[in-house]
Amino acid sequence: MRTREEAIDDMILALMYLTRFNDGEGRTFNELAWKNYDFDAIDRLDKEDLIINPKNKYAYLTEKGRERARRMLSELDVKEPGIYKRFEFCEIKPELSDEVVKIEQICFPPNEACTPEHMKARIKVAPDLFLVIKDRENDGKIVGFLNGIATNERIFRDEFFTDESLHEPDGETVMIMGLDVLPEYRKMGLARELVFNYCRKEQARGRKRLVLTCHKEKIKMYRKFGFDDLGESASEWGGEKWHEMEIRLNF
Ligand SMILES: CC(C)(COP(=O)(O)OP(=O)(O)OC[C@H]1O[C@@H](n2cnc3c(N)ncnc32)[C@H](O)[C@@H]1OP(=O)(O)O)[C@@H](O)C(=O)NCCC(=O)NCCS
Repeated sequence: MRTREEAIDDMILALMYLTRFNDGEGRTFNELAWKNYDFDAIDRLDKEDLIINPKNKYAYLTEKGRERARRMLSELDVKEPGIYKRFEFCEIKPELSDEVVKIEQICFPPNEACTPEHMKARIKVAPDLFLVIKDRENDGKIVGFLNGIATNERIFRDEFFTDESLHEPDGETVMIMGLDVLPEYRKMGLARELVFNYCRKEQARGRKRLVLTCHKEKIKMYRKFGFDDLGESASEWGGEKWHEMEIRLNF
């Protein structure tokens, strides 16, 4: 099975091969020229509703496009798209509270983990902001989650961890309270898919942004997910130093 990086390298090569042409510039025939971007293909994909191409710098995958890409990547035996066959991403049910509380204690040291009481209270007030990953091959066991509460405040403060009454259902910002993946399920791309699913869901509901705090060494990871680093946070959670990061969902 290929890794994600190997697949990217192979696919770029395959794409070069499929779209190569003679640029007519060299003294000799040069069929290795590559347009980088095949605009005809982009137009075709747009017409088929596989991407949205607003003709600016970027094009965006639609849900239909994501499904097609996953199918193709599975056929190419790439590891990551198999995630959607094996794992389900869904809202939490209150009866699963004990399971996620345990995961939080496994994933974070005691000074950083949210307490069982606050997690359970959060699930009561904002279950729709608590997305879990279930492993279909293991009796639907929960293997990770992302959760938050909504607010019209813009800056993160530690009380969000401990005072669920701050939750404003129609708040423009979601303050992320935790991203957890069990150790034996890491490095499979689950955290990335969880964050992307969460963003798509909250974007569709009209939220403006997600805000989180993280240790310095996680900044790179969150940048890969599309977050911007806002610098050092006022948070002193667990007696630690934190960085505040934000992703914009709607302008
Ligand atoms: C951090 C955590 C959620 C990552 O989960 P995961 O499912 O292994 O992450 P993914 O497989 O989706 O990784 C996505 C990308 O982030 C990178 N990444 C993953 N864990 C990382 C880490 N601990 N530090 C830096 N980068 C990391 C991966 O290399 C990958 O990048 P790539 O696409 O270039 O390969 C998981 O390790 C965890 O639960 N840790 C303990 C709790 C924690 O620290 N949560 C975050 C709090 S701010």
